[in-house]
Amino acid sequence: MITETEARAILEKEHPDAELKVGDIVPEHNAYVYSITRRKGDDPDARLHNATLYLVDIDTGEISEMNVRELYDDADRDIPLGIYFSGTGNSRYALEVFMKKYHNGAPVRSIEDKEVIKDIAVHREIIFSYPVQYSDVPKIVRDFIDSCPSVWNDKRVTVIATMGLFSGDGAGALGRLLERHGAKIVGGLHLRMPDSIADEKVLKRSHEDNVRLVKAAEDKIALAVDGIKKGKYPREGLGMLPRMAGFFGQRAWFGHKTRSYSDGPKIDPDICVGCGKCAKMCPTGNITMKDGKAHSAAVCTLCYRCVNICPKQAITLLGKQVVQQTTIERYL
Ligand SMILES: Cc1cc2nc3c(=O)[nH]c(=O)nc-3n(C[C@H](O)[C@H](O)[C@H](O)COP(=O)(O)O)c2cc1C
Ligand code: SF4
Ligand code: SF4
Repeated sequence: MITETEARAILEKEHPDAELKVGDIVPEHNAYVYSITRRKGDDPDARLHNATLYLVDIDTGEISEMNVRELYDDADRDIPLGIYFSGTGNSRYALEVFMKKYHNGAPVRSIEDKEVIKDIAVHREIIFSYPVQYSDVPKIVRDFIDSCPSVWNDKRVTVIATMGLFSGDGAGALGRLLERHGAKIVGGLHLRMPDSIADEKVLKRSHEDNVRLVKAAEDKIALAVDGIKKGKYPREGLGMLPRMAGFFGQRAWFGHKTRSYSDGPKIDPDICVGCGKCAKMCPTGNITMKDGKAHSAAVCTLCYRCVNICPKQAITLLGKQVVQQTTIERYL
């Protein structure tokens, strides 16, 4: 192994007129890395905007060159990436709060974003937030994971599962899908949030209680992130006991509902005013506009976005009547 002074001497021999800057070790390249910011004899204020970096191999002293952009890409790899799917905003908001505290400025992307796969390919650590459905993973999220199987290999993933009340193993359910493609699940965090099933009375809370619930989730996220920064990851929903709770609590009876897309919501043509909001927001393209009315097909992922945003409450899915529309913004 050569010292930094020896590495510098090797490079100076190769570039005698250069003023070398920084001899940082970049472990991934097993090399000291230098940039040439000025040539000797240049105006002291003149700086070379040189995109080339010079790497001196720590073991062999061999010099190689690299574009500075490649190094930035490598730096990006060490920044965590947040990805989410969200119907009414709970899972998105939870992730945003998490990422702001964990690594402010780190990217947060929806799985509906076309560029998201490229981002996943770059980053090593992923925080994946999603809403539990029947203690299971929504169909659109399953399909997303399986659409890019190789990209998950070796990723370190923390799963955030948001839920109205209980999932048993929400984090584990998503984690197992990712593990099949080579990911390593390092953490699981369960957050109770406002219930998104707008057309069922069960689990409905007052506005104040929902505000309190969101605040409690924020506090729980803060505690979890503090722990992670000290190397202690939350392990909610991971392991055999939670898995049994998720299976016997819900999945055994209702899990099949997330295995394929559903028939989709009922849209009352007498109430629909044709504003088009539902069609625009639907993540699967299940709703289309025809003759000034919204129509539903059979590729619904039960996200409940349309039911919650229809200004006329013309849409129902599992229930018969809209009881309480919800989006996270109401409780912030
Ligand atoms: C079809 C469906 C099934 C759900 N199943 C569960 C469940 O099993 N347990 C639970 O606690 N919440 C359940 N929920 C509630 C959501 O998981 C919860 O409201 C979540 O935070 C919504 O997040 P989002 O706004 O990101 O979509 C379900 C919601 C839907 C739409
Ligand atoms: S959001 Fe409601 S009113 Fe607007 S098009 Fe859809 S169903 Fe009709
Ligand atoms: S039809 Fe409604 S509930 Fe179904 S996927 Fe589209 S927005 Fe979500």
